[in-house]
Amino acid sequence: MAAMWVFGYGSLIWKAGFHYDDRLVGFIKDYRRVFYQGSTDHRGTPEYPGRTVTLEPAPGELCWGVAYKVSRKEDQEVALTYLEVREKQYDKKEYVDFFTKETGGSSAAVTGVMVYIASPDKANINYLGPASVEEIAKQIVHAEGPSGPNRDYLFNLEKTLLQMGCKDEHVMKIADEARKLIQGANSS
Ligand code: SIN
Repeated sequence: MAAMWVFGYGSLIWKAGFHYDDRLVGFIKDYRRVFYQGSTDHRGTPEYPGRTVTLEPAPGELCWGVAYKVSRKEDQEVALTYLEVREKQYDKKEYVDFFTKETGGSSAAVTGVMVYIASPDKANINYLGPASVEEIAKQIVHAEGPSGPNRDYLFNLEKTLLQMGCKDEHVMKIADEARKLIQGANSS
C-alpha cells in the first residue's frame, strides 16, 4: 500500500491532528499562500467571518510548508475522514510535487502530495478574495470562531514559518499591521 502524503501550508503546519510517520519541511512550486478564504467555522462566524490562507496559482513562486507521510491504511482512513471535516470549507484537492532544501527544486522529494485549496469558484461561498493589507488585518483582529481568535492563527502561522526559515511577505505584512491595530486599541 502506497503512503499518503498531505501538504500543509496553514494551520496544518503547527497542528496536524492525525497520526503521521514522517514530517518534512519543504515547498511546492507555482503557488502563493494568500489570506483570501473566509472562515465561518474555525476562525470566524457566519456573522463575522475570519480569514484563513489558501493557495493561488503563481507561476515561478514557491510556497513553503510541511508534508506529512501517513503509511498505514487504517491511519490514512482516519486522517482523511478527519481532514474532510476540518477542511470542509476548502473546495478543491490537488496533488502536487513536493521539494525540500536538500533535494533542491529540480527533482521532487515526494510526488502526488495531497493539498486542500479554497478556490475562487462560485461554489466556494466563503471565498473572500483579495483586499488591502489594512482591511485583511482589521478583519483578522476582530474575528473569532470555535477554533479560537483569528489573530492567533495569523501569529502562529508567521511564527512557524519563520522557525522554518520562510519569510512570507504577505503573512508578515498582515501580521505587522495586525500588531499595530492591537497596540493602537490597547493604548487608546
Ligand atoms: C493547510 O493548513 O494546509 C490548509 C489551510 C488551513 O487549514 O489553515
